[in-house]
Amino acid sequence: MFNEPIKEMNLLVKNIKELVQVEQTPVKWKKGKDMSSLSTIKNAYLFIEDGIISDFGPMSELPKIEANKEIMADGRMVFPSFCDSHTHLVYAGSREIEYSDKIKGLSYEEIAKRGGGILNSSRLLASTSEDELFKQSICRIDEIIKLGTGAVEIKSGYGLDAENELKMLRVIKRIKAERSITVKSTYLAAHALPSEYKGRQSEYVDMVINEILPLVAAEDLADYIDVFCDKGFFTTEDTERILMAGIKYGLRPKIHANELDYSGGVQVGVKYHALSVDHLEYTGDDEIETLLNSDTMPTILPGAAFFLGLVDPPVRKMINAGLPITIATDFNPGSSPSGDMKFMMSLGTIKLKMLPEEVINATTINGAYAMGIEESHGSICKGKIANFFITKPIPSYEFMPYAYNTKLVERVFLNGIEQ
Ligand code: NIG
Ligand code: FE
Repeated sequence: MFNEPIKEMNLLVKNIKELVQVEQTPVKWKKGKDMSSLSTIKNAYLFIEDGIISDFGPMSELPKIEANKEIMADGRMVFPSFCDSHTHLVYAGSREIEYSDKIKGLSYEEIAKRGGGILNSSRLLASTSEDELFKQSICRIDEIIKLGTGAVEIKSGYGLDAENELKMLRVIKRIKAERSITVKSTYLAAHALPSEYKGRQSEYVDMVINEILPLVAAEDLADYIDVFCDKGFFTTEDTERILMAGIKYGLRPKIHANELDYSGGVQVGVKYHALSVDHLEYTGDDEIETLLNSDTMPTILPGAAFFLGLVDPPVRKMINAGLPITIATDFNPGSSPSGDMKFMMSLGTIKLKMLPEEVINATTINGAYAMGIEESHGSICKGKIANFFITKPIPSYEFMPYAYNTKLVERVFLNGIEQ
């Protein structure tokens, strides 16, 4: 035989101090009391074949394995990569001027009313070429990969018209093609009302449905559809119309709701079988009840509440009622200019009173569910994609959210390949 078969790339990580978030039987999400349960194996090995997790267990049970590459992880832990299910990381420029305005006392809504906020990013985006937008955005992708994120959802929503929304979505598509991080794309159809549509909001919604959405679908540029359903932005009626139209094109909703007030967004999202409803600073008994009878993931964006000084969502109450919770960064220039999932874990523990186990579940398996990839991501499980990171030497997994500003992610692997 001449053609010697090429040896599959395989990798063995040995002497792992603790292998975190292992699953023998995969679950779709962790909710309620289960959110505080976390399976780990101390002094473990992890074996990767051809980009897939093929085996793991305690070192005492390590079988004879021939690996192309071995890593000794003494003193270090292995986590599945973070799944960041809500970002707007494709954007042009930045908005630190508004940051100063905020410090001087203006609210997010006041800044938006003066034509700042999302409209400010929209102007910057319109005057930025697709290539330049890609260049700016890929830097943020490389930054979050280094921080341990292995799957990310990215939204459009600063384009506001057909040309610029398509520009954003094409940049997301290029990111998908050029990096190993898993990417899901969301068409954020209604984010802010362009000033030329002032007083004609329902005409803008018509335009979105009749002009932009068919183009997005024709180029197959989105996995999900989103609306900013909140006070001062889009109503539940606008949201329903857009979600119904998106569903006809096969786009499941993942929406912004209840960041600024009780907007009815949670109820609309659940009615249209949203994969997730996100923000939820304003969550009352009615919202909790609605979510309990659904498959919709409540997603909390603690970076936005922290950066804007919003009220904190009642996460303890939500978990105690039996809900699952996902935590994502919301990485965007206006309300959360950070893509650091480890810091989001710290905000979850410090500000929202979540346990370390709960924030680990919220940023891994539940984040995977909130972007529709829980069967392949979010845990160390045989058959799942080998997206994981090795920490620096740390004493315990609780140390991750505890040491809130220490960089602890040492080596990152996507599809089993070191980045
Ligand atoms: O999720 N709330 C709406 N959209 C973004 C903020 C976008 C911006 O201010 O640029 C968010 O916080
Ligand atoms: Fe957002």
